[in-house]
This record gives sequence, C-alpha cells and structure tokens, in this order.
Amino acid sequence: MEETAVRALLEEAKRARLRSYSPYSGYQVGAALLTAQGKVYSGCNIENAAFSPTNCAERTAFFTAVAAGEREFSAIAIAGGPKGGEPDFAWPCGVCRQVMREFCDPESFLVIAAGPEGDWRLRRLAGLLPESFGPEHLK
Ligand code: THU
Repeated sequence: MEETAVRALLEEAKRARLRSYSPYSGYQVGAALLTAQGKVYSGCNIENAAFSPTNCAERTAFFTAVAAGEREFSAIAIAGGPKGGEPDFAWPCGVCRQVMREFCDPESFLVIAAGPEGDWRLRRLAGLLPESFGPEHLK
C-alpha cells in the first residue's frame, strides 16, 4: 500500500475518533476501513451504560460497510487512545480480529495502527490472528 494512501486512511480514522461515544472509559477510537474498490467506511467506538453492548470502532466500520453491501476489503486504519491525547497504537481486540477474519483474506488484509507522532505500524491480519477459524471451515 502506498504511503500516501496509508496517511489518508489514518487521517480518516482520526476524524472518526472525534465522534467516539466513550463516556465510561474515556478511551476514544476511530477506524477507517478501505474497500477493495477504494471506498472508505469509518466508525467509532460506541459505549453503553450496561457496558457489554459497547461496540468497538473497527466493528462499527465493518458493520456499516457490510450493511451497505460491501464484502471485499483491503485495509483498516485505527486511531485510539485516552481522550484528549494522541493515538497510541490501539490494536484491535480479539473480537474485532475475528470479525475481520470473516470478510478478509488474512494474508493480504492490512491493519494499520496510528502512533502518537504521526507514525504508524502496519501488520497483516494473519500475524494478528494466527491459526484462525473462518468461513471456509463451515463449507
Ligand atoms: N475499543 C475499540 O473501539 N477498539 C479497540 O480495538 C480496542 C477497544 C474501545 C472499546 C471501549 O469503548 C474502549 O475502547 C475501551 O476498551
């Protein structure tokens, strides 16, 4: 993935982070999901007074995109950290990794985490979720 494309996706994740609804944890996360056709769907974490209904930013982005008819994805950028601070490498939780696994090729799908100084780290989904279970197991 080109550096300019990575930077643009990170910027969209940071914009989405501003919409985080996180009154309980104060941890704000934004995500920007890139489709295979180059469209971007964003999401933020949405917390709940009952705690367990909380949705992570990554899943918000995925579910929004899938509900809009998208099925093929190439990368997701994530910007997360305590409210008011810079993003600090918020890697996706296990549940979000499994949701990615449902729709993405683990060997090619890229997960990009924003760092505090405009920097980032990039990993393939396969590295974040090794020996995984996916839709092909049920065929
Ligand atoms: N959170 C995300 O949105 N994405 C992650 O990858 C990690 C955690 C949210 C959930 C909750 O609203 C807050 O961050 C603290 O866990």
